[in-house]
Amino acid sequence: MEEITLDPQRMPKHIAIIMDGNGRWAKQRGLDRVFGHREGANAVRRIVRACGELQIPYLTLYAFSTENWNRPKYEVEALMALLIKSIQEEVPELMKNNVRLNAIGHLADLPQQCQDALTEAIRTTSANTGLTLTISLSYSGRSELKYCMREIAKKAKKNEIDIDGISEETICQHLYTSALPDPDIMIRTGGEQRVSNFLLWQIAYAELFFTPVMWPDFDKPHLLEILSQYQNRERRYGKTSEQIAASTKI
Ligand code: FPP
Repeated sequence: MEEITLDPQRMPKHIAIIMDGNGRWAKQRGLDRVFGHREGANAVRRIVRACGELQIPYLTLYAFSTENWNRPKYEVEALMALLIKSIQEEVPELMKNNVRLNAIGHLADLPQQCQDALTEAIRTTSANTGLTLTISLSYSGRSELKYCMREIAKKAKKNEIDIDGISEETICQHLYTSALPDPDIMIRTGGEQRVSNFLLWQIAYAELFFTPVMWPDFDKPHLLEILSQYQNRERRYGKTSEQIAASTKI
């Protein structure tokens, strides 16, 4: 493989990943889908480590969507058990790598044991200053926006917010992600090319990358290749190429 050189000045601050393809990875090997999720958890460990090594400040993973509750009961139960086990077992590794754990989504939907494991891991890692790893659980972008609108409406009703003063900033402050910058990159593994209700508001200007690699096979070299492509893309935010070139001249 060709050597990849990255420009430290143009690294993304925030990478979001839709970890797709666990089920197909297992099926291709004649295994139950649950094996794919187990291998997926190993891929999570590798990518968290890689992001730490690359000094990326924020990584957000789509681990369980609101819609995933509709999967067969045994698969949902296996995923919840895997989450509890992974969260508990990974705390020493998170501490070693200075990773701060965070979670977004309608967390009250999760089994109590999962909520407890999350609360404990978030508390234990709260003073870490390296990568902020956000796990999205029982999450969907539309339901997040629904909760956000309800919160703003409640405050407006109590006159704590002036309706005419509601700005994009007000919306950002009421999302689950209020403490995170918007993702610069969104990656989806597993070959599908859609955003599937992930961070709908926040990815307005994200660079999208779709790879056919199934999530259990995704590793640091795939991430480096995407980062290299990212650095070769021009982010214009609605401006022209000429304006961007003029503003980056020193
Ligand atoms: C999508 O693959 C993946 C999921 C629904 C679950 C992701 C969960 C993990 C990687 C496990 C552990 C996570 C953490 C954070 C420790 P899919 O089942 O939809 O795959 P398919 O499209 O091939 O069916």
